[in-house]
Amino acid sequence: MEAAVALVLSAARIGAAADVAVSTAAAGGHHGRHHGFTDAARWAAAFDSPDRDAWQKPAEILAALGVEPGMAVADVGAGTGYFVVRLASAVAPGGVVYATDVEPDMVRWLRDRADKQGYANVVPVLGSAKEPRLPPHSCDLVLIVDTWHHIEGRVDYARKLRLALKPEGRVAIVDFKPGLLPVGPPPGMKLPPEKVASEFSAAGYSQVPPHTKLPYQYVLVFKEN
Ligand SMILES: C[S@@+](CC[C@H](N)C(=O)[O-])C[C@H]1O[C@@H](n2cnc3c(N)ncnc32)[C@H](O)[C@@H]1O
Repeated sequence: MEAAVALVLSAARIGAAADVAVSTAAAGGHHGRHHGFTDAARWAAAFDSPDRDAWQKPAEILAALGVEPGMAVADVGAGTGYFVVRLASAVAPGGVVYATDVEPDMVRWLRDRADKQGYANVVPVLGSAKEPRLPPHSCDLVLIVDTWHHIEGRVDYARKLRLALKPEGRVAIVDFKPGLLPVGPPPGMKLPPEKVASEFSAAGYSQVPPHTKLPYQYVLVFKEN
């Protein structure tokens, strides 16, 4: 397979919706449908592909969000921990990363990864579809990457996230821009940034800087009113 084609196919899986059929090619040669993020080992190849860095730009995102030593950050829908390990390094020493996911196998994977790679400041959390299950008033920042569009009852969920924030805490949403892109979920699954902003407004937040530019994703940051 040509390298460029391999990059696109592997990246295409990163935001692929759990309940949406993906083509044989986009599934990396597997036949059939993905019915969930139940198998962490299977998803790790896509989520943690080294090719992802070129368009995901994790260092730029963390710098723009002002992630620094001592901070408490939650990664909601952490998956296999692409952002978790980067956050854990950035908040050390003295900081903590709550790595949440609704899939027990993802949480197991996150725990194993943190242990194997020596990230003692990672706290894996099994969330539920409707409950973030974060400690009250614990977070300087809640980061949600390629996951907001999977959450149902989002206004309610955003209200619940307020309970996890410290007084000046922020929620950052990174998700895929509308339209056809070489990466991310199908267009019908995506949320325009204006819709996300209106959901957070309804939940009692205001949008704050920064407005980071990424090739395929938007970054929206919110604070409690
Ligand atoms: C497309 S993956 C993104 C993973 C990771 N954020 C990344 O960027 O590599 C979406 C993840 O969100 C999780 N998820 C879906 N709904 C969730 C919810 N309500 N709360 C927490 N995690 C959720 C899924 O199990 C999956 O691991």
